[in-house]
Amino acid sequence: ATLKVDASPQSARKIPETLFGIFFEEINHAGAGGIWAELVSNRGFEAGGPHTPSNIDPWSIIGDDSSVFVATDRTSCFSRNIVALRMEVLCDDCPTGGVGIYNPGFWGMNIEDGKAYNLVMYVKSAETTDLAVSLTSSDGLQNLASATITVSGTSNWTKVEQKLVAKGTNRTSRLQITTNKKGVVWFDQVSLMPEDTYKGHGFRTELISMLSDLKPRFLRFPGGCFVEGDWLRNAFRWRESIGPWEERPGHFGDVWHYWTDDGLGYYEFLQLAEDLDTAPIWVFNNGVSHNDEVDTAAIAPFVKDVLDSLEFARGSANSTWGSVRAAMGHPEPFPVKYVAIGNEDCGKKFYRGNYLKFYNAIRQAYPDIQMISNCDGSSRPLDHPADLYDFHVYTDSKTLFNMRNTFDRTSRSGPKAFVSEYAVWRSDAGRGSLLASLAEAAFLTGLEMNSDIVHMASYAPLFVNDNDRTWNPDAIVFNSWQHYGTPSYWMQTLFRESSGAMIHPITVSSSYSGSLAASAITWQDSENSFLRVKVVNFGSDAVSLTISTSGLQASVNALGSTSTVLTSGNVMDENSFSNPTKVAPVKSELSNAAEEMQVTLAPHSFSAFD
Ligand code: AHR
Repeated sequence: ATLKVDASPQSARKIPETLFGIFFEEINHAGAGGIWAELVSNRGFEAGGPHTPSNIDPWSIIGDDSSVFVATDRTSCFSRNIVALRMEVLCDDCPTGGVGIYNPGFWGMNIEDGKAYNLVMYVKSAETTDLAVSLTSSDGLQNLASATITVSGTSNWTKVEQKLVAKGTNRTSRLQITTNKKGVVWFDQVSLMPEDTYKGHGFRTELISMLSDLKPRFLRFPGGCFVEGDWLRNAFRWRESIGPWEERPGHFGDVWHYWTDDGLGYYEFLQLAEDLDTAPIWVFNNGVSHNDEVDTAAIAPFVKDVLDSLEFARGSANSTWGSVRAAMGHPEPFPVKYVAIGNEDCGKKFYRGNYLKFYNAIRQAYPDIQMISNCDGSSRPLDHPADLYDFHVYTDSKTLFNMRNTFDRTSRSGPKAFVSEYAVWRSDAGRGSLLASLAEAAFLTGLEMNSDIVHMASYAPLFVNDNDRTWNPDAIVFNSWQHYGTPSYWMQTLFRESSGAMIHPITVSSSYSGSLAASAITWQDSENSFLRVKVVNFGSDAVSLTISTSGLQASVNALGSTSTVLTSGNVMDENSFSNPTKVAPVKSELSNAAEEMQVTLAPHSFSAFD
């Protein structure tokens, strides 16, 4: 087989700087119990709902009916999340270790030897009381850190802060709060954060490092269906997710079925985009959920709400909402240049009407913001104005491999395509197979070739907490202390140099051409330029390939310095916590830089040659 690359500058085209990014959705406990490092689950006791007594799960009780009575009531000092926990200690002679409450976090807290954890909680007690706070093993027997907090007797709520330094490691720890003193103590907004988080901004460092290694050019957030809700009353509300964390009401995400206290809120997403040096793409609800909709005649307050969100991000520190951002510690605006008007709502009754209301208001207030429609414009023109349109695809590997040419046929006029969600799923995806990643890689080479019309692409979903695999497969798998990338994650690392690179025409001649997909780019690091050819061999035979280059400029390094190959013994191979890099790229140094290069493509492989 031969692959010819026309590397001459005249036939090259620049790939948009934005081409490859990431899409974060609060799904699979990706945020709460995921990248957001908060260790306490249901920290404000709100998850059981506003009607008391309510379920306090996953909190539970240390002691028995005769020694302690614990129930929620509506006495919090925080008006937007009014539920608090009342604990009445009944015993005069309490058991050793006292009675109290514990929180196991999200399937166990990862407490590590020598590390510091900051406990913050709000307490109220009529009488002065000593509380023992400790980090223990899940059965309470191993003590990893403890402190005694004296709560002064008063009728007011008091904020308590206590640093706990662990003297041992336990991956499934819990937080305990106990006392021996008879009487009543109230608790609310109990938070335990590791001191060490990504750039000090509250994110799990090792998980965010996986994202920064992709060099993403945009961050689409916070969903997905999470933005829509099954019902509007459960949709993501940016306004409820900003300001002091203690005052956020939290909400039940009814599509993915779990509570989030919204510690990871609108502000934190903007902060994350800044920390990753990437463009934020705010997907907002356009008055449409899975089951109910706001009539366009009544959409005006929702439009106003979104304009407020943009002022929060972009307004000066003196503006109404910009001043709220500044008070949170970010006087400089966040550069929001893209918004998506809804998610997967094109077919909904009021979508177009609502869309136009949002579109016109945003265009007028922020003429530079690019707006993304949910209606697919790849096969026919949109009937409404847009800068980009969403294109989502979840399918089997063969179909996605064959979709690599989809955008060849798309009209070059009109809005650009944003492939904001793509993945192989179901039948041959496993929990993230090599096969899935090969089809996705082939699809992405097609997007590179069509990047005059496709300006953005992101895999979905990004994260899964292994304890809540609602959606399968995902790019990054984690639990409280481990993580790994699936082959679909690793596949993306071979595209991280593509955004902003030059794409070159190629021709492939081979009897195997039906199972090959390829692209050629010139990319730059801080010092040098390199030609890179990527080839997917989707077939089960090894393929001997001659890659010949013409028109290469002297300033660009020819092929032959390295090869990076993603493959494995079995096409259905996956990674796991015990074997996290079973399917991961293997880089080899080569020393035969030349205009013509002979390579052998392993069966079922994805290779990048530099
Ligand atoms: O990525 C998972 C879901 O797939 C998203 O929430 C939604 O946009 C799509 O249907």
